[in-house]
Amino acid sequence: MGEIRQPGGTVFMVNEPSWVRHILVGEARSFPKHDLMHQLLEPLLGVSIFTTNGAIWERQRRLVDQAFEQARLQLVFPAMQESVAALLLRLDKVADGRDFEVDGEMTYVTADVMFRTILSETLAEADAYSIYESFLLFQKHAQRASLLLMYRIWSWPARFACRKPAQMIRRILSEIIARRFEEVKQSGSSPKLDILNGLMQAVDPVAGDRFTYQETVDQVCMLFLAGHETSASALAWSLYLLSHRPDLQVRMREEIR
Ligand code: HEM
Repeated sequence: MGEIRQPGGTVFMVNEPSWVRHILVGEARSFPKHDLMHQLLEPLLGVSIFTTNGAIWERQRRLVDQAFEQARLQLVFPAMQESVAALLLRLDKVADGRDFEVDGEMTYVTADVMFRTILSETLAEADAYSIYESFLLFQKHAQRASLLLMYRIWSWPARFACRKPAQMIRRILSEIIARRFEEVKQSGSSPKLDILNGLMQAVDPVAGDRFTYQETVDQVCMLFLAGHETSASALAWSLYLLSHRPDLQVRMREEIR
């Protein structure tokens, strides 16, 4: 376990798998998500399971779990394969020995997977790069804002700087969601069996209600961000490590074949 001591508090990084399980599963109720996480991510993720705790998290989680039950891997796997096929076409165009940003391409492909599996839409190239740029900007400003908050300094300029790129990403996603809500309202049903449809159809067995439009936007923004940036970083770093080990590249290629 690593420890980072700062004036505003101490941050612990837990890497031991049995401890991670203890914190995230066994004793999850004793380790709620920090309020700082909510304050920082709220401009981008709204009020969604990534940052909520207690009864709010439990209700949201019951509904999100149902959406994932409906959109089984079997159904969404072909959409993931299409994203990879599109990535290979893009890579063919730059495979002439030039250097290129692998991180941006990994972000593009994982964001495209999210678009296809959550929304049944393909990600337009202009949107892909503007999401990538906006998220980099958001991360930069959020890091500054989080340091200030840890020192108990409330800075409007720092928070405003986070809000602008966050709104850019939320606008792209909420336009698609608004269109779907309108389609369902007009026709009474959704022809698409994706995660958005699952989120709209899920009914809470306890309260008997569904996600509102605003709650759906928050959960989709959260899933989009939580799902693509993490996987993109893991892929980019894997490729970086593989680039240093030609022997492992050969083994991996054989294993895949
Ligand atoms: C390499 C890939 C990934 C990494 C390293 C990663 C890491 C994490 C971490 C550290 C948390 C926080 C746990 C906590 O504090 O409670 C989390 C939560 C979450 N992640 Fe991921 N994640 C990855 C991929 C994904 C994908 C692909 C999705 C969705 C399609 C996803 C959706 C979520 C959700 C919904 C939560 C919140 C769960 C809850 O609190 O109920 N993640 N992830």
